[in-house]
Amino acid sequence: MEKVAVVTGTSSGIGFDTALALAREGYYTYATMRNTAKGDKLKELSSKESLKIDVLELDVDNENSAKTAIKHILDQKQRIDVLVNNAGWALWGCVEDVSVDEFKTQFETNFFSIIRLIQEVGPTMRKQGSGTIVNISSVVGRIGFPASPAYISSKFALEGLSESLRFEFAPFGVDVIIIEPGVIKTNFMKNMKMAKKSELDTVYKDITTKVVSGVKMMTEMGTHPKEVASTIVKAIKDKKPLPRYIVGNDAAMFLEAKKNKTDIEFENYLKKELY
Ligand SMILES: NC(=O)c1ccc[n+]([C@@H]2O[C@H](COP(=O)([O-])OP(=O)(O)OC[C@H]3O[C@@H](n4cnc5c(N)ncnc54)[C@H](OP(=O)(O)O)[C@@H]3O)[C@@H](O)[C@H]2O)c1
Repeated sequence: MEKVAVVTGTSSGIGFDTALALAREGYYTYATMRNTAKGDKLKELSSKESLKIDVLELDVDNENSAKTAIKHILDQKQRIDVLVNNAGWALWGCVEDVSVDEFKTQFETNFFSIIRLIQEVGPTMRKQGSGTIVNISSVVGRIGFPASPAYISSKFALEGLSESLRFEFAPFGVDVIIIEPGVIKTNFMKNMKMAKKSELDTVYKDITTKVVSGVKMMTEMGTHPKEVASTIVKAIKDKKPLPRYIVGNDAAMFLEAKKNKTDIEFENYLKKELY
């Protein structure tokens, strides 16, 4: 039976490489993106390699768009085997510089949209008695640092959601996997947004500028998104998928340090790394 995969945010980066990797594994892949004009490269590669990739419009912030896209897929294929919740972006600015509305905007894409999509595909996967939800979290889904609390807390929330969902879906044969990449070389820092107030001369200006430029520099030397894509393929092929898969030596190093240190020891270690 032809297996069907759906990936969100495939116009660039991790989503782009994941859509390709799943199609190369034989999945009929719906490469969704909010602006399908950005799908030309995927279409070109898919026709060159005779891959089964459908570029489909899906703005994850828009409930109607999510419902329409999933209905279209189910009308065509009657099944969904893999959903990769990848679409996401980062809002920078310290807590006092980020309005509650800005926090909500960040959570809309990185968290609430994922609940919406899981609710759309859940009934189908349960009926199938199989399926895998892959949630793209981050190393910062388990590690907090200054200047991006909205992004970081959206990924912490996603980790909690995923842990709960693993229990709820297990009796129905549906797996939930968290992917925790470190710094990956994608358009992530080009697509990032600054909170309005953080552009002003606030007491947090220096720390925000320092952390943002540090992460921008690290991104240039980041892991290739293909590594995230191949980890996702490996994870969904595992007989008993683990709750979490870490990608990148940087992520592995920080998470290992967190595991082996007390909270205070780890905080001091991070301060040395950051400042
Ligand atoms: N790069 C890293 O260092 C890193 C590390 C850990 C985790 N991650 C996570 O990996 C995921 C992918 O990011 P990336 O690094 O590949 O960055 P990217 O190249 O900027 O890709 C982000 C993708 O999300 C899409 N997107 C944003 N808002 C959307 C919306 N409302 N509806 C549909 N698509 C939307 C973007 O589409 P547009 O082209 O239309 O903007 C783009 O396709 C994110 O969840 C990110 O948090 C990244």
